[in-house]
Amino acid sequence: MRLQDKSFELFIPEKKIQAAIRRVAGEINRDYHDRNPLFVGVLNGAFMFAADLMKNMAIPCEITFVRVQSYAGTQRSGQVKTLIGLEHDIRQRHVILLEDIVDSGFTVQHIQQQLQSANPASIEVATLLFKPEALAVPTTLRYVGIRIPNQFVVGYGLDYNGQGRNLRDIYQLKDTSSR
Ligand code: IMP
Ligand code: MG
Repeated sequence: MRLQDKSFELFIPEKKIQAAIRRVAGEINRDYHDRNPLFVGVLNGAFMFAADLMKNMAIPCEITFVRVQSYAGTQRSGQVKTLIGLEHDIRQRHVILLEDIVDSGFTVQHIQQQLQSANPASIEVATLLFKPEALAVPTTLRYVGIRIPNQFVVGYGLDYNGQGRNLRDIYQLKDTSSR
């Protein structure tokens, strides 16, 4: 599979993605049955995960979306990210942040810190994908769909230069150096 200048190969098929989402949804249904959780999806990447997770929720719940804006800092890993688009009042709410992928953990950390200042009752994170080897900041991920090695992936909401979000399966970058 090709996107612009890069080749990708199938990595996680749709069935496996959906099974992981059903498992995570089951855990949230159990843990939050009496809490009316407010899901906060992080655009753009988490839109597909958010949609499929919501279809598997069987308890009262709500959803809203935010976006992060990156400002290039002096260091590549030290980007400052500003949360935009939070219109929902999250005071006293049990918030579950929905992410497509946690890589270094900086994005989730920044969003959690900014949401915390709005005084929610609790904040937990549900991420579809997690790259444990890439984690650079301490982060507590309550719900993880699938752990993956430290490799670039696309599909199911995740993009390469804006392309590939539409794919139902997840693909990984082909290692061209070895062929
Ligand atoms: P972090 O702040 O390093 O945890 O990065 C999280 C963000 O980087 C995600 O929300 C994605 O938008 C992006 N990202 C990290 N790894 C990948 C990947 O393998 N493919 C596509 N996007 C990625
Ligand atoms: Mg993202």
